[in-house]
Amino acid sequence: MNDKILDGKKLADKLNSELKIQINKTVKKTGIIPKLATILVGKDPASRVYLNIKNRTSAQVGISSIIIELEENITKVKLLEKIDRLNNDHTIHGILLQLPLPESLKLYTLEFLNKISPLKDVDGLNPVNKGKLYDYNEELAPCTPKGIIALLEHYNIRIKGKDAVIINRSNLVGKPLIFMLLKRNATVSICHTSTIDINNYIKNADLLVVAVRKPKFITKERIKEGVVIIDVGINRVEGKLCGDVDFDDVFDKCGAITPSPGGVGPLTVHFLLHNSFITYKKLLNLTEM
Ligand SMILES: NC(=O)c1ccc[n+]([C@@H]2O[C@H](COP(=O)([O-])OP(=O)(O)OC[C@H]3O[C@@H](n4cnc5c(N)ncnc54)[C@H](OP(=O)(O)O)[C@@H]3O)[C@@H](O)[C@H]2O)c1
Repeated sequence: MNDKILDGKKLADKLNSELKIQINKTVKKTGIIPKLATILVGKDPASRVYLNIKNRTSAQVGISSIIIELEENITKVKLLEKIDRLNNDHTIHGILLQLPLPESLKLYTLEFLNKISPLKDVDGLNPVNKGKLYDYNEELAPCTPKGIIALLEHYNIRIKGKDAVIINRSNLVGKPLIFMLLKRNATVSICHTSTIDINNYIKNADLLVVAVRKPKFITKERIKEGVVIIDVGINRVEGKLCGDVDFDDVFDKCGAITPSPGGVGPLTVHFLLHNSFITYKKLLNLTEM
């Protein structure tokens, strides 16, 4: 039964241990500890929980992590200035702007992301790094799609020639994943709220990636026998976390599935730290480690 479960937590633990060794070795040579700065605007409790997990894991792998907490009513100009100061601070090797921003600033999200130096862009959301992904350069690709690909490859799940359906078109999940799956020769379809006859896409998917913010969105009646399901969703229902897929319902019918929590989430955190190590090495001109 368990060989059907794509255990993201277990893989992330292994990758974090390997990263820790690499970071240790590098810091011994350079004497400089990698430092990641996260900007948190406002007091979104979900963002705070997520940042605490990131901070804990950073410390475990040897990355120093600071959170810059800013008032919800900070102006656009002040936030841009703050990002610029971090761009010019040579002690900072990675910058993360925690999303979503408060309503008053949401409109300017792209402007803020564009301001982050592409050399410190650990989330892969600056246009330079987005553009590189268009050419299949995944070096600083967004962390969640990186985690999904790592999981599929770790479990030797064939991507080439498969019909992959992604239900999500956000910058953090669906859009970057298109290029990563295309690079590996899948045939990729993207579904969203305007997709007509979404059931037809779901029913024909060999690989189904779901990130819709809706618990139990995917049930066994909707899927094909043997489909590999990546449940990216994280929802809180009656105080408990769950994904977008009815895990127990689909389990017997699917070929493999990620749990949520314990699937994609821990890998997202790993790849944030992995990307931070990449930016650190680039900024220090360390070619080979
Ligand atoms: N595990 C992780 O590490 C991780 C990382 C990132 C996000 N997440 C989780 O993934 C989920 C999505 O995050 P996000 O930031 O990408 O969210 P988002 O920007 O709100 O995107 C949700 C996507 O789902 C689509 N959608 C919603 N309802 C739908 C429906 N009934 N039929 C078809 N498509 C539908 C939306 O379509 P439209 O574009 O048409 O609105 C949109 O593309 C959240 O639960 C989030 O917590 C998890």
